[in-house]
Amino acid sequence: MTRARSERILSHLNGRSIVLIGMMGSGKSAIGKLLASTLRLPFRDADHEIEEAAGRSVADIFEDYGEAEFRRLETRVIARVLDEGPVMLSLGGGAYMCEETRKAVASSAVSIWLDVDLETLVERVCRNIDKRPLLKTGDPREILIALLEVRSPVYARADIRVRTSGVSKTGMRESVLKRLDDYLSKEAGKQRK
Ligand code: S3P
Repeated sequence: MTRARSERILSHLNGRSIVLIGMMGSGKSAIGKLLASTLRLPFRDADHEIEEAAGRSVADIFEDYGEAEFRRLETRVIARVLDEGPVMLSLGGGAYMCEETRKAVASSAVSIWLDVDLETLVERVCRNIDKRPLLKTGDPREILIALLEVRSPVYARADIRVRTSGVSKTGMRESVLKRLDDYLSKEAGKQRK
């Protein structure tokens, strides 16, 4: 059943990538890796790709060049990774705010918003705050609330929204696979009509 579902998903994807979007701490990388191994797609993490390209950490890029330069690099790197697809790609929390990136995602991938509740996000990001330069300029909780307000309507443009709170990684993988399978099967049904 699981195998058949994975094969159906891949066939319906027909060469497209899968892109995970959502806030810092929403589990994009962890879930992305699980999904990639289930679907046998190469896993790519946008922040990691940026670090490779720049030869320094995200935190150092922010510090040395500023956020605007980080965003330019992020847009370029994501376009390149999508060109190399199909891949399972996790984006950094701010990446989908860029119109160019949204267009690149829409033309070559199915996008999934991991919509995780605020309390879970706060708990997770506070465990690893040093890696997250945007949260170091004030109270992380307040910053997350402000970012969520601006970003949620944009994240909502993703093809699929998966809402979760405190679900295990494997539970989350299951929810995403189910939603993805439903979405792609419906899409295929509409194309047949
Ligand atoms: C950012 C999220 C980070 C990273 C950078 C900016 C954001 O990625 O790209 O610190 O703007 O939300 P994660 O979402 O993987 O933590």
